[in-house]
Amino acid sequence: MNLHGVGILGVGSALPANIVTNLDLEKTVDTNDEWIRTRTGICERRVAEEGITTSDLATKAAQAAMADAGVGVEEIDLIVVATVTPDVPLPATACYVQAKLGAVNAAAFDINAGCTGFIYGLSVGSQFVKACVYRRVLIIGAEVLSRILDWSDRSTCILFGDGAGAVVLGPVAEGQGILNCKLGSDGSLAHTLYIPAGGAKIPTCQESVEARQHYVKMSGNEIFKFAVRAMGEVTAEALEGIGLGKEDIDFLVPHQANHRIIDAARKRFDLPEDKVIVNIDRYGNMSAASIPVALDEAIRSGRIKRGDLLGLVGFGAGLTWGAAIVRF
Ligand code: ACO
Repeated sequence: MNLHGVGILGVGSALPANIVTNLDLEKTVDTNDEWIRTRTGICERRVAEEGITTSDLATKAAQAAMADAGVGVEEIDLIVVATVTPDVPLPATACYVQAKLGAVNAAAFDINAGCTGFIYGLSVGSQFVKACVYRRVLIIGAEVLSRILDWSDRSTCILFGDGAGAVVLGPVAEGQGILNCKLGSDGSLAHTLYIPAGGAKIPTCQESVEARQHYVKMSGNEIFKFAVRAMGEVTAEALEGIGLGKEDIDFLVPHQANHRIIDAARKRFDLPEDKVIVNIDRYGNMSAASIPVALDEAIRSGRIKRGDLLGLVGFGAGLTWGAAIVRF
């Protein structure tokens, strides 16, 4: 068996141009800029223009990641899209991305692990490379969450945004790249974040639409407490699994769900603020896209450099959680 490492060869992202500020939301729901900023850290978010789908954003992010990696589209062996907002229930959004890219040699499938989807994707995709089944794998986190939000529900509509981020995985030297991944789930907490209708349990019908059951329902408080604990524990486990500690981390790239959750995780790791990548103020929670978009921005701005040790950590619907330790 070949024991080479698996690394991130390139990173890219794509964001809709359309910005919706807290002040814009004040005009449509009973909320205010001060509440949103202090409770969540969010100032504005992107909302995809009509007609733009998850696969459109995913394709743009993938093209940017391939250009960054210097990898041609015909070299891509596998496309994994992590999303909770697929273009359609069937087939997988990854198949639309495959067609839009013209990635004729690629297999394609989706992962639904909520906001942890990108970390699940890294873990799954890296196994294919490690096993020498594939050499070039695209992992994409992409969401158009604006289409599954109840814009009259102030407890959810203020939190989320649209966007996509992507990485190209490939073989690297042993000891480089993705050093460890830890994943977890607790389905007994599924009810804390879910969409009741539109699946086999409650197929979409007039009653389900009238009851607004096709929109996201969330128990924010329960998730908040869970998230603070899960983010800290899973990152520590992923580090300990390879004999490293919190002092070894150069940058934490957490899922961007709430600034207060991120800050609690930061304190647990004794990290100064400048070692934690935060962009929730500009994008809100982009679910599976949050981590790769934050990673891409931090690389473009020169904060994260090749050789840095990164802790990527997320939590989300399922409930799920996961962390990846990456020597970038
Ligand atoms: N504007 C003004 N007031 C509001 C708003 C709003 N947008 N939303 C809620 N309120 C009110 C509530 O009605 C409540 O009023 P009351 O005290 O009179 O009853 C008050 O503000 C406090 O509400 P809480 O829900 O207790 O506020 P909290 O401080 O917990 O913040 C929040 C809510 C921001 C949702 C927080 O719980 C949170 O971020 N939870 C985590 C959610 C999360 O991470 N979800 C994503 C998971 S990842 C994925 O897979 C998508």
